[in-house]
Amino acid sequence: MGELEIERVRALQVLDSRGYPTVRVWIQGTDGHVCAATAPSGASTGAHEAVELRDGGPAYSGKGVTAAVAGVTGEIADLLTSRPWSSLADADRALIALDGTPGKARLGGNATVAVSMALARAFASRAGAPLHAWIAEVLGQQPRLPVPHFNVLNGGQHAANPLDFQEFMVAPLGAPDYPEALRWGAEVYHALGASLKRKGLAGGLGDEGGFAPQIARPEEALELIMGAIADTGLAAGRDGVAIALDPAANSFHDGTAYRVAGSTLTSEQMTDYYARLIGDYPIWSLEDPLAEDDAPGWAALTEALRDRVQVVGDDVFVTDAERVREAIRTRSATAVLIKPNQAGTVTETLETLTAAARGGFGAMVSHRSGETEDTFVADLAVGAGCGQLKSGAPARGERTAKYNRLLEIAADNPGLPYGLPRLTEGRDHA
Ligand code: PGA
Ligand code: ZN
Repeated sequence: MGELEIERVRALQVLDSRGYPTVRVWIQGTDGHVCAATAPSGASTGAHEAVELRDGGPAYSGKGVTAAVAGVTGEIADLLTSRPWSSLADADRALIALDGTPGKARLGGNATVAVSMALARAFASRAGAPLHAWIAEVLGQQPRLPVPHFNVLNGGQHAANPLDFQEFMVAPLGAPDYPEALRWGAEVYHALGASLKRKGLAGGLGDEGGFAPQIARPEEALELIMGAIADTGLAAGRDGVAIALDPAANSFHDGTAYRVAGSTLTSEQMTDYYARLIGDYPIWSLEDPLAEDDAPGWAALTEALRDRVQVVGDDVFVTDAERVREAIRTRSATAVLIKPNQAGTVTETLETLTAAARGGFGAMVSHRSGETEDTFVADLAVGAGCGQLKSGAPARGERTAKYNRLLEIAADNPGLPYGLPRLTEGRDHA
């Protein structure tokens, strides 16, 4: 197939779902075809994520991205229109070299990820394939529709309530197909909303569209969710609706101890606490249970809990292939959260997915708390074949855009399987 020739690169500062600026990019090929993409933005970030370039100054509380946009329409456009590109990896490598810093701090990870996502779409369009099919082809994976992880109850840095754990998700592991999974998630969400109203706990929503009641203890949140699942008549557990947690423990670790709902706990005590929660509730997945710099804690927790739950690293891996390979060697998690803007390019994101698949590690593709209408992660989750996506509550346009994109993909591809894949460890060495 011919190379990708780029005619024009355009960019604008637009708003994300929190009302803060972000970068939108359009790439026009010499065939006239235009592909767009928009960068998301996190709030509970890992220390080693690609760095966002923000303007500072008075406008938008310093969060403007006019410099990042200028980099795209200037230096990056000059690079991309300077020669044809044989592959996305070819173009992304040149982008990384142009930036020249480890964290993409000069041009901004928010600029590079939007450019790279638009480039991926341009390569898919040149190949005449939907984005998810093109990604599956590049990765050599069997595509599948992911189990949606609906973040129905929010705390931590995503909400103004006293709840320390960030995300309480419902995951319809037992649904027969994706459309049914979406219905189950929406019904539990509405049942939860109704029950909070009855109990006088209805308040605002968190950044990802989940309810943010004024409660402090994780057990209260779990009881409310169990009640909502029961109200729908669906089964709770792996045959029906299971629960996934993202405590995002960085945000309640003070450097020495974990502070949860008034208690001060060591990493061993946190692990015992999670073991109790897993015993009492149908929790199937646990993300960032400990802080990113608590390496011995991660290994011990994984050893203790790996037969009972998926242990997912987000802030600790920041979608970095080398960090994932290290965790596979040291058995300090069992899965990785995949956020393209943590890596800063799609190529690096795909490398991390490959590292995970080769090591028998699970992977969950993820949105960010600051999102946009862009549905890239829905296609990424399908193409990666990893079987898991989290995109917030089944409400609010920036969240439902992804869930609705999956409906489209399901309708267009009736043979696509739904659900978790079986992981095959060490395929490389077989
Ligand atoms: P963030 O949160 O997008 O605010 O970083 C999401 C997560 O921690 O998974
Ligand atoms: Zn997380």
